[in-house]
Amino acid sequence: MNGVSGRMGYRQHLVRSILAIREQGGVLLADGETRVQVEPILVGRSERKLADLAAKHGLEHWTTNLDEALADPRWQVYADFLVTKARAAAIRKAIAAGKAIYTEKPTAESFDEALELARLADEAGVKNGVVHDKLYLPGFQKLRRLIDSGFFGRILSVRGEFGYWVFEGDWQPAQRPSWNYRAEDGGGIIVDMFPHWNYLLENLFGRVESVYARAVTEIPERLDERGERYAATADDAAYAIFDLAGGITAQLNSGWTTRVNRDELVEFQVDGTHGSAVVGLFGCKIQPRNATPKPVWNPDLYDEHDYATDWIEVPTNDVFENGFKTQWEEFIRHVVEDAPNRYDFLAGARGVLVAQEGLRSSAEGRRIDIPQVTLDSGSDATEPALAAEASGSEASGSEASELAGAR
Ligand SMILES: NC(=O)c1ccc[n+]([C@@H]2O[C@H](COP(=O)([O-])OP(=O)(O)OC[C@H]3O[C@@H](n4cnc5c(N)ncnc54)[C@H](O)[C@@H]3O)[C@@H](O)[C@H]2O)c1
Repeated sequence: MNGVSGRMGYRQHLVRSILAIREQGGVLLADGETRVQVEPILVGRSERKLADLAAKHGLEHWTTNLDEALADPRWQVYADFLVTKARAAAIRKAIAAGKAIYTEKPTAESFDEALELARLADEAGVKNGVVHDKLYLPGFQKLRRLIDSGFFGRILSVRGEFGYWVFEGDWQPAQRPSWNYRAEDGGGIIVDMFPHWNYLLENLFGRVESVYARAVTEIPERLDERGERYAATADDAAYAIFDLAGGITAQLNSGWTTRVNRDELVEFQVDGTHGSAVVGLFGCKIQPRNATPKPVWNPDLYDEHDYATDWIEVPTNDVFENGFKTQWEEFIRHVVEDAPNRYDFLAGARGVLVAQEGLRSSAEGRRIDIPQVTLDSGSDATEPALAAEASGSEASGSEASELAGAR
């Protein structure tokens, strides 16, 4: 587990996933009886931090020498939670060492590099997976249920709001690491959030076919972890429109410079001909067609109707575990007994492509088409017209059926 002292590495991957899996006696395999236990080795740059973490959680193995850990056949899976900038180099080493690899998103800083990692992993025959955690959130699992049940009729549009105020660091410390606000260190809200938006959209509604985005640095200067002033060079707000396969329009706002006036930090409204839903991390409420009020626009009359009460809460009806843990269990089953895994490096590369093209859209002030991506896509994949027209805009091979299946 490389980068285990970081925010994600520690809380979500070590404590909430791997330690929780150990506590329950391992990952249950398909036969419903056999369990595979996990033994982590903590990898990082600071001996002190690793020793403290190992002692705190009663763990035996830690090292500051990644190469040695990779050369040791006892460790079967390389997991990466490093800052984005450091990821690709470490993953290349893990591929060369023949390890199965599970990583945080984004898999790389550029689409070419992300695709190269997917290709290298494929050629080396190493199993690979990328975090798709938002799909496992209770709210989005309820949304998937609604879609599968045909609740929406024809889905028309998706509107999403994600964000909250991240303090500048002057009179209150910032609640996110400062590298997120420096483009040169792999920061930026588009690079951070568009990979999430891409896998949510492609797995729930349809492939992202084009993006129009406006990326803005609303707060140009912040204070870092040491209280030192720095230039915030990365985008901290992004306003975007995605055209999805099947004619669905998704509008998603992402911001670290907005104050929350919603039930949850992320909220999507999905409107369909037969009903609408509003989902968050946990909650999901619906309004079916036959319980839809009939507002009449009249600015001269105060409207006393309480629209919030028109919605019905969708019951949980299930036990939703931490999404990071659930996906870890799926990945371990993939490694151990070849269980299916759709969320691989190629899926990760599609997310990086949408982020990259979102930034390009903003820089050039225009909508950009997103081509289909396969392991054979060249860097001309980012020249949309070429790739799409050459293939007759047809989805290529397994990816298309995979996505169709997912819908
Ligand atoms: N899935 C999600 O919801 C989600 C949320 C936040 C962040 N992330 C991703 O997780 C990754 C880590 O983010 P974080 O917020 O935990 O960051 P963090 O700064 O808290 O942790 C980063 C880790 O990388 C290590 N590191 C930093 N620079 C390094 C270098 N040059 N070489 C080797 N190691 C280095 C740090 O020591 C630390 O362990 C990022 O890629 C980010 O995009 C994912």
